Amino acid sequence: MDKLRIEGGQPLAGEIAIAGAKNAALPMMAAALLTAEELSLANVPQLADVATMERLLRGMGVVVERSGDCCTLRAAAIAATEAPYELVKTMRASILVLGPLLARCGRARVSLPGGCAIGARPVDQHIKGLTQLGATIRIEHGYIVAEARKLRGARIVTDLVTVTGTENLMMAATLAEGETVIENAAREPEVVDLAACLNAMGARIRGAGTDRIVIEGVPRLHGAHHRVLPDRIETGTFLTAAVVSGLFGTADVRLTAAAPGTLDAVIDKLREAGATIDVEPNALRVRARGRPRAISLRTAPYPAFPTDMQAQIMALDCVAQGTARITETIFENRFLHAVELQRLGAAIDIDGNTAVVTGVSALSGAHVMATDLRASASLVIAGLVAEGETVVDRIYHLDRGYERMEQRLAALGARIARIR
Ligand code: EPZ
Repeated sequence: MDKLRIEGGQPLAGEIAIAGAKNAALPMMAAALLTAEELSLANVPQLADVATMERLLRGMGVVVERSGDCCTLRAAAIAATEAPYELVKTMRASILVLGPLLARCGRARVSLPGGCAIGARPVDQHIKGLTQLGATIRIEHGYIVAEARKLRGARIVTDLVTVTGTENLMMAATLAEGETVIENAAREPEVVDLAACLNAMGARIRGAGTDRIVIEGVPRLHGAHHRVLPDRIETGTFLTAAVVSGLFGTADVRLTAAAPGTLDAVIDKLREAGATIDVEPNALRVRARGRPRAISLRTAPYPAFPTDMQAQIMALDCVAQGTARITETIFENRFLHAVELQRLGAAIDIDGNTAVVTGVSALSGAHVMATDLRASASLVIAGLVAEGETVVDRIYHLDRGYERMEQRLAALGARIARIR
């Protein structure tokens, strides 16, 4: 099982290009099921989760070809409408094939994703919305078994803001008869990018990016070419790593191929921590020197502070001046990184969904274990600033959402390597 070995103490400097957004690429790949024509995607990150989605779609008869960051998909004929447990259990986002399969084929059998380390993560809102669109859905032996002779437009009000729930319903509604309105919709940039991709395919969606999305059903969709937007969470992760590395000198990192306008809440918080962040249309430059100031936050749906950046900021707060309060409102168990950070010497008290972090002047390297994708990023950041050697185990979690993390950080001066 791969591990990362990190020798802390180097300020990061240099330039890094941001990859395409995992959480936009995954629904777009599923959207290929909505047409028999070719969908070609550019700026698709080379990640474990993307490879899993490729396997899932190939299993349905979709022709998927990868060349660098381009991915072409063609669902000329769909041979199977099933997402098996062995794939779904490794990637919850597999649920995103449910809406497209129902819309294109009128049936689907998708394993219930089950929970994961950060929470139970039910999909009741996906099921509720698809039922309102006219699907008949039952749960059988751990599978969602769904049928719909023809989906019909409906007005759906989700009980809570759900990103993939909004995406599943939006995709299903593109081929439904009549108009669908999704109220309380997720406003994430990945939802907006998916809507742009679907509209390029001939869908008629308006309001993406607001909490009210209107989809006018059309008889069919056609092929298209679309470029995936840059990954705002990867951007925030590298910004945070640069800021904490300023402990050891002047950190000065330029991030290119980015979309600064999709992470305002993160940039604001890092500026509050004392970083200088210059924003250009497709790039950012971050400079920092000395200990950051503690930053408190409360995660919430976009455009508020993203839950996917909570663990990374907690690593920064571990070595900040002052005490921070971090409140996680999206997932019920997303502090698993805290106990591992404590092994590095962090002072963290967990009280329900709030963590109180008292900054210490230094962390000390240790063996730690990744538990989920963003927790592993948090441990890498902490390892960059811990004195001595840190070994992060189970970094298959990291590879799900970050391309060659160790190579890209090493190019910025970090002492980090992958070991077996
Ligand atoms: C998406 O997950 C992202 N994944 C997650 O990123 C991200 O953390 C999350 O949105 C929140 O921003 C992808 O886009 C592939 P939700 P998703 O449905 O859609 C509850 C990462 O690190 N809920 O917005 O699964 C749910 O339990 C991953 O890249 C229901 O109760 O999240 C959670 O508490 C981790 N019923 C809250 O809503 C439902 O039917 C938000 O979940 C759906 C969700």
